[in-house]
Amino acid sequence: MRWSGIPRDECVVRPARRGDLREIYLVEVKSFPFPYPMEAFISLLILFPKYFFVAECGKRVVGYVAGGRRNDGSGHIMSLAVEPRHRGLGLGSMLLSAVEESFLRVGVSRLFLEVSTSNKVALSLYRRAGYRIVEILREYYPDGSDAYLMFKELSN
Ligand SMILES: CC(C)(COP(=O)(O)OP(=O)(O)OC[C@H]1O[C@@H](n2cnc3c(N)ncnc32)[C@H](O)[C@@H]1OP(=O)(O)O)[C@@H](O)C(=O)NCCC(=O)NCCS
Repeated sequence: MRWSGIPRDECVVRPARRGDLREIYLVEVKSFPFPYPMEAFISLLILFPKYFFVAECGKRVVGYVAGGRRNDGSGHIMSLAVEPRHRGLGLGSMLLSAVEESFLRVGVSRLFLEVSTSNKVALSLYRRAGYRIVEILREYYPDGSDAYLMFKELSN
C-alpha cells in the first residue's frame, strides 16, 4: 500500500515485522501517557500478525496499528499511534484503513475499540471513519479516567 500525500518523504503502510518492534515502542511512549509495555507488542505480533501494520517514512517507522480478536470473534483495534512530528498527514487514517481491510479479508466485519473520552483528535478520526460510541467505560485507565467503547460494522 502506498500513499503519496507527503511531499518530502515517501511513506508506506506495510505489515509489521519483528525488527520494527523497537521503533514501534518508541512511537508508543511518545504517544500515550500509559504506554503498553514492549512485551505487549511482542505478544500481539506473535498472536495477531495479520492485524499489525506500520507506517514507514524514509525507512523509519513513524506509526503503527495493532489489532486482535475478541472472544466472540469480533475484531479489536488495540492501539493506533503516529509519532507527533508525522501527525496530521493522513497516516493514522491509512493505518486504520489497512487494518480494517485485513479484518474484512478474513471475514471479520464487527470491530471494537476503546478511546479516551478526552482524546478529541482520535475521536474525530474514528467518528469520521464510521465508528460510533456504544458505551462509556468508567475508570478504564490507570489514572481513573474514562474511555468510550466504539463500534463499526465493516461493509465490502
Ligand atoms: C490519533 C492519531 C493516531 C491520528 O494520527 P494522524 O496521522 O495525525 O491522523 P490523520 O492525519 O489521518 O488525521 C485523521 C483525522 O484526525 C484529526 N486530526 C489529526 N490531527 C489533528 C490535529 N492536530 N488536530 C485536530 N484534529 C486532528 C482530523 O479529524 C483528521 O481528519 P482530516 O483528514 O479532516 O484532517 C495521532 O494523533 C496519535 O498518535 N495520537 C496519540 C495516540 C492516540 O491518541 N491514539 C488513538 C487512541 S487509541
